[in-house]
Amino acid sequence: MMLQDPSRKYRSFPVLPLTDRVWPTRVIETAPIWLSTDLRDGNQALREPLGIALKREFFARLCAIGFREIEVGFPSASRTEFDFVRGLIDESLVSADVTIGALTPARPELITRTILALKGARRAIVHIYNAISPVFRDVVFKKDKAAVVAMAVDAVRHARLLTRNFPETEWVLQYSPEDFSAAEIAFSKGICDAVVAAWEPDPGERVIINLPATVEMSTPNVFADQVEWMHRHLAQRDAIILSVHPHNDRGTAIAAAELALMAGAQRVEGCVLGNGERTGNVDLLVLAMNLYTQGVAPGLDFSDIDDLAATVARLTGLPVSPRHPYVGELVYTAFAGSHQDAIKKGLAAQAPRTLWRVPYLPLDPADVGRDYEAVIRVNSQSGKGGLAYILETHYGIVLPRPMLMELSAAVQTLADETGREITPEQIWQVFSNHYLDDRGLARYVGHDWSGEPQTNPMHLTLIVAGITTRYEGHGNGPLDAAAHALPIPVRVCHYEERSCASGSSAEALAVVAVEPWAGGPVVFAAGIHTNIVTAGLLALVRAWSRLQAKTAGTAGPATGEGASWAMG
Ligand code: KIV
Ligand code: ZN
Repeated sequence: MMLQDPSRKYRSFPVLPLTDRVWPTRVIETAPIWLSTDLRDGNQALREPLGIALKREFFARLCAIGFREIEVGFPSASRTEFDFVRGLIDESLVSADVTIGALTPARPELITRTILALKGARRAIVHIYNAISPVFRDVVFKKDKAAVVAMAVDAVRHARLLTRNFPETEWVLQYSPEDFSAAEIAFSKGICDAVVAAWEPDPGERVIINLPATVEMSTPNVFADQVEWMHRHLAQRDAIILSVHPHNDRGTAIAAAELALMAGAQRVEGCVLGNGERTGNVDLLVLAMNLYTQGVAPGLDFSDIDDLAATVARLTGLPVSPRHPYVGELVYTAFAGSHQDAIKKGLAAQAPRTLWRVPYLPLDPADVGRDYEAVIRVNSQSGKGGLAYILETHYGIVLPRPMLMELSAAVQTLADETGREITPEQIWQVFSNHYLDDRGLARYVGHDWSGEPQTNPMHLTLIVAGITTRYEGHGNGPLDAAAHALPIPVRVCHYEERSCASGSSAEALAVVAVEPWAGGPVVFAAGIHTNIVTAGLLALVRAWSRLQAKTAGTAGPATGEGASWAMG
């Protein structure tokens, strides 16, 4: 099957002839007023809308994040919705700095019920809406423009009269011309002007005019033009807070909201994690974090992002994508080798409390409660940089480059063979099989070293080819002396030690590389022990065994199997 010819089924959305738009030159420098509609628009879109207890939990969480305007429901729609709103007010669950709102269609009896749900609140938003676009007028309501305007105006007058009976509440009118982005712009202005006039705002009072992209219709610049046009042409603009309510049908709700703010909007409605009808409302978490990563304080606190995401997912029953901006499991993770390399360098160079400059990470994961461990994960796409990062962050090990290259090849083979992610534990296993392996020709048993290199020899006890023998050697230090004591002396060409986090915190890791005195391959191994001399000797004996296997031309000492060196 093929998609139909779209020109026969769809038409492109007419672009508003706004030639002197200023929004492209604007930069967002302050956070907007946020309204969370998780408990209304988001809740309406759930397979199983929330009951009172879960709504209360969600409400408390939204308050804790910092929302100061929360649309708490649609009280005329159901008993649960009505009781929830009343419960918040009657049980004093709304703190003094939070304003609750409720949605109502532009019908007098439903407005009455909504006001009865909200009365007694310190401050309450009565949110009246009716759809205004041609498709609603022609197909759904079969009403002309005048009738649609009259519906809105009558509704607002009714609300104004009724709310005057409850002066203990500060009442705020919000009006939404539903399907605004699909409507004729002059008609949108006309109905909004009529509504504001009908409310007759007192001096200093503000009406919220909320412009929804009920269904996202076009590219976000078109919505921005519509918002800027309204911003510039609305009557009584000073008595209005201009709000937007973008949905995400084209996947550009975030862009639409941001451009709308540049175009003059002062307030944004949406849901945390973007719940809502169809593709959802604009995601307020992403919008807020976008501001944060531009150096603008969003006024919302997402520092415990994982707990929040788990809570919202539990409440809504909607899983969070591992790729969800800022909060997905994988969004601070790099698998690709080149990314890992740049991130590793960036993190190493990043000084605390300075401008964040880490490639591929637009946000410091620590700001949202993530650690750096998962920033780099290893699969077949990864490189030695990622491997080095995991060894260092998980085990405190920094390997010399040749050793890292060798290990990287082994991990790569494992990743190719399994086709899966390689966990830090598996990487440790590969490291251990290569460098901590005692199944080679010789095994360290013990040593005796007085610390007087000139007079006292190193006594090294080894099991070589199954026979326990005490060897003796002199040298400048224990390692040098032991290298001379070995059945075939070798030259130690690399030694380093550091503390190691693989086991007890008191353990030391020693890395040793040896080569034959006559020249030949350089072979690495490692030792871990609470005693640093013992760690070095373990590494030396393992490196020696690996060397013997290598120079004997066997398959290699990584596992010790097949080592065929014979004494003598
Ligand atoms: O999407 C929409 O148009 C709405 C309005 C009721 C504000 O949710
Ligand atoms: Zn909506």
